[in-house]
Amino acid sequence: MTDEFLYGAATSAHQVEGNNVHNDWWNWEQNRPLEFRSGRAADHWRLYKQDLSLAKNLGHNAHRFSIEWSRIQPERNQWDQHALRHYRAVLLELRRLEIKSFVTLHHFTNPQWFAERGGWLRHDAPQLFADYTRVVVDYFGDLVDFWLTINEPMVYATQSYWHKRWPPQKRSGIKTWLVIRRLAAAHRQTYRLIHRCRPGAKVGLAQHLIAFMPSLARQSGSRTVIALQDFWFNHYFYHLTRGTHDFIGANYYFAKSNMTQPEPVSDLGWPIRPEGLTHVLKQIKKYKLPIYVTENGLADAADSRRADFIRSHLRSIETAQKQGADVRGYLHWSLIDNFEWDLGFAPRFGLVAIDYKTMARTPRRSAYVYKGIIEQSQTTL
Ligand code: BGC
Repeated sequence: MTDEFLYGAATSAHQVEGNNVHNDWWNWEQNRPLEFRSGRAADHWRLYKQDLSLAKNLGHNAHRFSIEWSRIQPERNQWDQHALRHYRAVLLELRRLEIKSFVTLHHFTNPQWFAERGGWLRHDAPQLFADYTRVVVDYFGDLVDFWLTINEPMVYATQSYWHKRWPPQKRSGIKTWLVIRRLAAAHRQTYRLIHRCRPGAKVGLAQHLIAFMPSLARQSGSRTVIALQDFWFNHYFYHLTRGTHDFIGANYYFAKSNMTQPEPVSDLGWPIRPEGLTHVLKQIKKYKLPIYVTENGLADAADSRRADFIRSHLRSIETAQKQGADVRGYLHWSLIDNFEWDLGFAPRFGLVAIDYKTMARTPRRSAYVYKGIIEQSQTTL
């Protein structure tokens, strides 16, 4: 791996900050049992300095986090200076620690005012999102190294408008498709806006990639169906946004294959398939852009599989690099334990464990293994 390689971890605002009272998730959670409400989350809004210094001590030279739109714009005509100052302070802290920043502008949550007025189904949703982005870019755009406009647009659209799992819990093919089109328009508009304000900016998005392994097609006999699924879930959004990416952000968690023997799985039952990461990286090298793995991780409360998981996925990256994929960074999901959306706090994705009673932070053993890998890669150059 080259000396430019970035190693770090990722978080998102609603999952860690706590008290994001002005967004649609918060509103939705209030009708759910207590353990499924985000509440104080990991109290990261208050403890961010401690968390970033942990990242530094764990050897990270990159960090991904998201800006909470509803904090910046709690009401349609209200811009919160305190929130803007806060995120500027976070970015200054990252600069001080010499950690590169990946800033996500939308990670699943929407301001409640936006959701109430139709959310991503509104024809002017891309413009409203661009208005927010403009304020963000003016206020702290000078400190951002990498921009990610939207996190996992296909996941957001399908979970919220098809699977009925996330707010607003709809099931409509037309709505799902419309939301995807609006998100794509928002990405394109935001990409251009950021570049107009900051010509040298690096802008992309984080796409969830599922590896549809070749064995799958052989087994089920339905190559076309699998190819269509692959195109729809993994590539359709790139198709809608082509020409507006400076790099590719790839989130990878699992593969679909025809494995019949029991295979290792995470606490959530997701199969652990590092070779799937090589597979998707080789697929996206066709976009001829630098690639950053912007999320990859597993729920593993006992921390018995995380270290091996990190090792094997980093090896898969090396394999893909040798076959021409220009991978330049790896961000583990997640830096700290956090609120796992509709599944609440039970899944433990953190390199660092959170005691939700005391908010104490304790790095897990795997965090030190990862640190060792980072240090070794830096000395063997
Ligand atoms: C999302 C994260 C989530 C992670 C684990 C990703 O799809 O971007 O917000 O916590 O998966 O489920």
